[in-house]
Formats: sequence, C-alpha cells, structure tokens
Amino acid sequence: MPIQFEKFDVELFLRDYWQRRPLLIRNPWTDWANPLEPDELAGLACEGDVESRLILRRADGWSLEHGPFPEARFSQPGPEPWTLLVQAVDHHVPDVAALLDPFRFIPNWRIDDVMVSYATDAGGVGPHFDQYDVFLIQGLGRRRWQVGAVCDENSKLLPHDDLRLLDHFEATDEWVLEPGDILYLPPGVSHDGVAVGDDCMTYSIGFRAPSRSELIAAWYDDVLADLAEDDRYADPGLTAQDNPGEISAEALARLHAMIAERLLDREAFARTFGKHSSTRRYPDIDWRPEQPIGIGELRAWIEDGAPLCRNPASRFSFVAHSHDALSLFVDGQCFECRGDGAAFARRLCAEDGVAADPGWANEVLETLCALYNQGSIAFDRED
Ligand code: SIN
Ligand code: CO
Repeated sequence: MPIQFEKFDVELFLRDYWQRRPLLIRNPWTDWANPLEPDELAGLACEGDVESRLILRRADGWSLEHGPFPEARFSQPGPEPWTLLVQAVDHHVPDVAALLDPFRFIPNWRIDDVMVSYATDAGGVGPHFDQYDVFLIQGLGRRRWQVGAVCDENSKLLPHDDLRLLDHFEATDEWVLEPGDILYLPPGVSHDGVAVGDDCMTYSIGFRAPSRSELIAAWYDDVLADLAEDDRYADPGLTAQDNPGEISAEALARLHAMIAERLLDREAFARTFGKHSSTRRYPDIDWRPEQPIGIGELRAWIEDGAPLCRNPASRFSFVAHSHDALSLFVDGQCFECRGDGAAFARRLCAEDGVAADPGWANEVLETLCALYNQGSIAFDRED
C-alpha cells in the first residue's frame, strides 16, 4: 500500500511551495501501486450517490455529461478522447482514502476529497484554474501537464456554463508525469493535463479554503439562532438632546457594542467553525448503522478486541481549550471532552484505526457510542 513518502521534505515544501508555486515531485513513494482499477472507477460513476462527470473533447468543442451513468456508457464511449471524473472516491474506497495519509502534515479541516479521473489518449478537461491547492498524483499511464499564469475571477473564460475553461492559456512549463509522480499546484495557477496514451488515471488530492462569505454566513446563522428577543438596546441615564433628530455618538457606540461584543466572541466562533468545517461533503448520504447501540454492547465489542475505524467520509477535528479539555468536532457535531476523553479525541483525530481499550472511562464510551450511532466510526466485527 502506497501510504508513505520515502523522499519528500515537508518543511521545505511548506516553506517554499505551499500556496506559493507549483512543484513537480518525481515518484516520492516507497512503493507506488495504483490503488483503484479503471473498471472500479467506472462502477462508482454508475452509482446514484456518487458525483461524476464525463468530458468529451469533440471536434466542435467540449461537451459535459453528469452521472450517474448507465454501464453501457463506458463500453461504447465513442471515438473522441474522453475523461471520466469521479468526486470523493476516498469516501467509498479505503485504499484511495489511504492516499491522504502522507498529506496529513496539512490539518484535517483543510483536506477536501480525492477526485479520480480516467482518460483515453489525448483526453483531458481543458485549460482551467482551480480555487484550491491540489496534489495531482499520476496513478496509471502518463499525462502531460502544462502550467501557465495565475488567474482570478477576472480571467476570461470560454462561453460554456459548466466547464469554466480559459479563453486563453499559454504554458510556461510542462512535464510528462509517470505513475507515482505528483504535481502540486497552488490556487489560481492555470493548468492543462492531457493523457499520453490510454488508461491514464490521476488522483487529485484537493484542499478547501472557506470563502469569507461562507464563513460570515455560517457565523451569522449560529449567532442569530442564539439571540433572545429580550436582548435589547437599553439607555439608562439618557440625557436630553438639543435636536431629537440626532442619532447621538453615545447611542451609536452602545448599538455598535451590542453587535461587536457578540460577533467577536472567539470561543463561540471556534465552536461554529469546528461544526461548520466538519460537516460532511455529502450530508444527504446516510451512514448511520441499521441498529443504534448502547454503552453495554459497545463495551462488549471492545472487550472482544474489535478494531475501531473512522468512516472515510467523516471529518474529525478538535479545538484545544487546555491540555486536558477540548471540543471534538465530527460531522457537524460538537463533543466536549476532558481528561481521558480529551486524550482519546486527540488520538482519534490524528490516526485512523485507534486500538480500542477495554479500560476506557464511561465518558469515552459515551462519545464513541454517539459517534457510532451517527455513522462516523465503525467497529470491524466478524458477524
Ligand atoms: C484531471 O484529473 O484530469 C483533472 C484534474 C484537474 O485539472 O484539476
Ligand atoms: Co484542475
């Protein structure tokens, strides 16, 4: 399993490249093996709860189809070069989720998903730019990547509603990637990847950067939900004004303080952000177990030695309040943890497959039970 880098200088990468400039990393893995077969990818693109797209490079321009696709779509795709793109494959295929492990030097909340593409010779998605950092791992076959100027929302696009392709693209660098090679691109760098030969698979490790408007919307929702009707302006000690039409500086200062005090509450913001950023990408998919369990059953499973694993579709982060108190955020829910519970939460956020301990306090078991019942963790059991 290619879950480790043999040669990759994380410090140097973060200092000189992350969010700054592209970097070609020639096969850094201990032993690269493509984690997913093209047929399995096509199978996922036929499933209703998986987001997928098919892009064809036709003589008269680009065309885009959205999945799910009938199986027959891939047996007779037509003569023109095509690319199949499947989003969040890590949520469904553990070996693809394992590709994220070497990138955990970046916080969990910044990681988005692993998109996987499959292209026939000369297939690609056309020159474009993304809003996010991405590591493009060549899984199978070869792809020529060209990179160009940094773009932004003023860059001219081709008139195609869905594809957001650049009207003008001039390459400043290009490389042919072989299996195991990685190209890192910061947000905004224009790029174009074209398959060299058939059976070209690329894994995009994508990151997230919340927009200011998204943050403000989430924060305002939470603030508003918390405010009481009787939390109102008050002005004891009001003095008579010369002109009743004036909104005085004193009144404005009080009004402004009513807003600022609440909006600048960092602790409350930390909880909002923890919940918001841990919300699943596809919240409509129900991962809950058929039967919810109680603490007694959970204790029995742990005593049987059943290994605990995280749902790859779930998101785990925490905010520390002190060395033994923290808020754990999983799939949009907040769990306050102290002592043993906090130590357990730190491990759960850091590593998949935490060995369950029969000696865990009730408080840990309660959190585990809630996580199991909301579908965020599972126990690998025989039955
Ligand atoms: C691809 O995998 O073909 C496209 C990935 C990208 O350019 O973002
Ligand atoms: Co891209």
